[in-house]
Amino acid sequence: MLLAPSILAADFARLGAHAAEALHAGGDWLHVDVMDGHFVPEITIGALVAKSLRPLCTDTGTVLDVHLMVERPERQIAFFADAGADVITVHVEACRDPARTLQHIRSQGLRAGITLCPDTPLDRVLEVVRHADVALVMSVVPGRGGQAYIPRSTNRIRRLRKYLDANPCNTLIEVDGGVKAHNAYEIVAAGADVLVVGSAVFRGSAAENVAAIKAAALGVNS
Ligand code: DX5
Ligand code: ZN
Repeated sequence: MLLAPSILAADFARLGAHAAEALHAGGDWLHVDVMDGHFVPEITIGALVAKSLRPLCTDTGTVLDVHLMVERPERQIAFFADAGADVITVHVEACRDPARTLQHIRSQGLRAGITLCPDTPLDRVLEVVRHADVALVMSVVPGRGGQAYIPRSTNRIRRLRKYLDANPCNTLIEVDGGVKAHNAYEIVAAGADVLVVGSAVFRGSAAENVAAIKAAALGVNS
């Protein structure tokens, strides 16, 4: 199980130091949420900030994981590839041709991720998941941090796990939204490989929170 601290909940005035705290404490991937004000209402950050975070991921041996909540994400891939992203994840709802976009990401030498909103039928992702290295299950409506985990997400994770087990490939299941120490075990048991955690990491001590969530995900009482 891998933990991906989401910088959306970090203190942007000291972004590098705050992200470093979470990665040094055992964060495995650094999750960067890109919002464009169209696909979701808010605007966050773009490739320039991802590029500034690249050396931190290199130094800590972690993965720079970019989640594009943007319309027509194919137009952004070159920028994030140049910024040094390791994984670029796009929304199935935002792509004109999701399989082609995933192939484009892979053609840049990166891992390609596909994701979907909680109300989008899972079949939309299953249709293209063979082109993806990561399948991200959104467990909140994308657009902001600090929301509650939508309970029916667990069944979607289970269904996806079952599908991937029946159609062997190396696709990782990532889960994003409302993940906390109290539900991490259930989510991993359902089949998640990577847990994205924003507010539950960056509110309070990031180092302590990372340790507590990892322990909880593994079923260790801490
Ligand atoms: C939501 C983002 C998430 C968010 C998760 O649109 O994709 O990555 O940061 O934050 P929490 O863990 O607070 O739900
Ligand atoms: Zn995200």
